Amino acid sequence: MSTQTVATRHVSEFAAEVRAGLTKGGQRELPSKYLYDELGSALFEAICVLPEYGLTRADARLLQNHAREIVNRLPSPLQVAELGSGTGKKTRWILEALSQRQKTYYYPIEISPSALAACEKEMGQIDLVSVVGYERPYLEGLRAVADRRKEADHLLVLFLGSTVGNFDRDAGRNFLRELRETLLPGDALLLGTDLEKDIQTQILAYDDPAGVTAAFNLNILGRINRELGANFDLKSFRHEAHWNAGERRIEMHLCSLRRQAVEIPAAGLRVILNQEETIWTESSHKYKAEEVLEMAADTGFRCEGQWIDKEWPFAQNLLAAI
Ligand code: AVJ
Repeated sequence: MSTQTVATRHVSEFAAEVRAGLTKGGQRELPSKYLYDELGSALFEAICVLPEYGLTRADARLLQNHAREIVNRLPSPLQVAELGSGTGKKTRWILEALSQRQKTYYYPIEISPSALAACEKEMGQIDLVSVVGYERPYLEGLRAVADRRKEADHLLVLFLGSTVGNFDRDAGRNFLRELRETLLPGDALLLGTDLEKDIQTQILAYDDPAGVTAAFNLNILGRINRELGANFDLKSFRHEAHWNAGERRIEMHLCSLRRQAVEIPAAGLRVILNQEETIWTESSHKYKAEEVLEMAADTGFRCEGQWIDKEWPFAQNLLAAI
C-alpha cells in the first residue's frame, strides 16, 4: 500500500470519528487518541515534567526501583511489546534489566509517528536490544507481534502510565479481556494504574497553572483545523478539568465561551455550539489498589506483584496470563 493511501485512510477515519462525536446528540465528544499529533505528543511530554503532574514520575520511579525484581519474576526467553509507548523513556529500566540476561526484542506499538520514531531511536541504542516499531492501534499491533513470535518465546506486554484510565471502567475490562486473548499462559502484562488521591491534587494535575494541559487539550481543535480544514477559533474555548465523583475520573472538556458556528469541511459538517456548551475530550479513571486485582482476576490474569509509589499513589501491577 502506498503512503498516500494510508494517509487518506487516516484522514477519512479521523473525519468520521470527529463527525460522530460532534453530532451524537447530548454531550459532544472527541476521541482522546486524537490529542496526540506531533504537537500534542510534545505537549504531553511537557505535561509529564509538570510539578503538578506526579503520575509519570511515580510510574518511572517504580520501574527504576523495581525493574530487577519485576524481570526476575518473568520467564525466559522473553520479548517485550508496549502499547502506546510514547517515546519509551521509562521503559528503558525494564529493557536494561532484561538485556542483562538475554538479547531482547522490543516492539513499541504507537499511533503517533513522531513519538514512535523518537522511541525507536532512543531504545535502539541500548545494548542487546532490537527495536521494531508498529504504527498500529493497540490490539492490531499486539496481534501482529504475537503472530510473529517463535514458540519458545514468552511475551511481556507493557501498558504503562495509566493509559488504561482513558477507557470507561467496563471498556477497560473488555480491553484487558481482549488483550488476554492475544496472549498465551505464561505471558505477562505490566499494567500501570494511577490511584485515587485527594481531589485537589487530582484536579491540579489536569489543570496546571502554567496552562500546559490547557494547550494540550485545545490542540485537538487546532489539529482538526490543520487536518480537516476546520475553522475552530481556539481563543473562544476554555480548558476545563473536573472530578466526576460517581465515575471516579477526571474529565477534560473544552467549553465554548460564546455561541458560535464551526465549519469542518473534510467531515462535511457545520456545528453550532451554545455558550458554555462543552466538548468532552478525555477521561482519566482513577483506581483503588484492590480494584486492579479484581479487574485482573476477572479478565484471565493472576497478580504476581503490585508496587505502589509512596509519594504519588500509583501502582505498577505485574499480571500473569493464566
Ligand atoms: C496518558 C492518558 C495517562 O490521563 O493522565 C495527561 C493523559 N491528559 N494530562 C492521563 C493526560 C491530561 C494521561 N494519559
